[in-house]
Amino acid sequence: MPRIGIELNNVCNLDCTHCFRSIYRGGAENNKDLFLPLDVLERILLEAGPLGYNHVAITGGEPPMHPQFGEALDIIARLGFTYHFLTNARNFQKTLKAISTPLRRSKLSGISFSLDGATEATHDGIRGKGSYREVVTAIATCQAVGIEASIITTINKANRHEIDQLALLGAHLKVKRQIFGHQNPTEHNMGEDLILPLTEWRAVERDVARVMTGFRHDISMAVGFYTDYFLPRCAPLTLDDLNIDYRGRLTLCCQLSNYRDAGGDGEDVVGDLKKESLTSALSKLMNLVTKVHQERLEMAADPNQKDKLHYPCLVCVERFQKTGEKPILVQMEQARLKV
Ligand SMILES: C[S@@+](CC[C@H](N)C(=O)[O-])C[C@H]1O[C@@H](n2cnc3c(N)ncnc32)[C@H](O)[C@@H]1O
Ligand code: SF4
Ligand code: SF4
Repeated sequence: MPRIGIELNNVCNLDCTHCFRSIYRGGAENNKDLFLPLDVLERILLEAGPLGYNHVAITGGEPPMHPQFGEALDIIARLGFTYHFLTNARNFQKTLKAISTPLRRSKLSGISFSLDGATEATHDGIRGKGSYREVVTAIATCQAVGIEASIITTINKANRHEIDQLALLGAHLKVKRQIFGHQNPTEHNMGEDLILPLTEWRAVERDVARVMTGFRHDISMAVGFYTDYFLPRCAPLTLDDLNIDYRGRLTLCCQLSNYRDAGGDGEDVVGDLKKESLTSALSKLMNLVTKVHQERLEMAADPNQKDKLHYPCLVCVERFQKTGEKPILVQMEQARLKV
């Protein structure tokens, strides 16, 4: 399903150790630039609809913290889009109230909750005290009121041993879908020793593959796992997923956007939709996509480079210079040896 990803804001009420966003943590009151203006949202959707995009995936920051969260949902629903959003579940009763008008509920396809541990100690160790209970309670609430809930887990050194338990918890909580993903490296999370060595990544994938067949709910692995497709078929590179950042700019991928510790914008930011049409920015994105594929074709022919292509998102993190000058695999190896 072609989707528009919207980073609704760049504020958050948590400070998760693994987070790849450069979240602004000062007071939001005087900082309107942290929130996507709703007239920009409306204009983007008006242009995206006729191109066949019909679903909005809302992320952030913490999306319900947008001061006009409900109004944003009204625009999305009124223009005929379905939507889901990602949340950390903090203040979920308030969020529930915001989504409860008939219009907003009619187009809500589900809520995805980030759960980063099967136990309170593991999850709260990454996300902060009280978060585990909030997530589990919010998922149970969704179950009670008939909202489809999903779980997203980012696998790292702290929770790697809990994959089976996480799947069991997903089954208990009766979630529709559960997605496991590798954790992308930032200088911060490498410094906190959360990144698994690359040699462990395939073992994680095997563990996830095993639980996929053992449960009735849908379990999958997010893009970024080992692949032999050297020209990646991920949704951003096929234009099935577009990403709009909180400043109203079209960017290549939500995984690279507003990256923590990156020195400013990269080439992945292609157009400012406050100033130009989606059509004009999309044509620049198409050029970038072609360039990325071209570069991967060249890497595939280079014996010193080609093995990197097994992990396509790490290639992007390095290509778009999100974590300093040194090659990312070298940095990951150095972080591992520091322990
Ligand atoms: C940036 S958050 C925004 C939505 C919301 N605040 C939340 O945490 O669900 C979106 C998703 O990205 C995940 N994420 C954060 N840092 C990551 C990283 N370094 N690698 C992979 N996923 C990451 C989060 O765990 C979450 O599931
Ligand atoms: S992962 Fe989500 S909840 Fe955690 S700091 Fe990042 S944006 Fe906030
Ligand atoms: S980081 Fe690159 S390879 Fe990974 S999903 Fe985004 S565009 Fe595709």
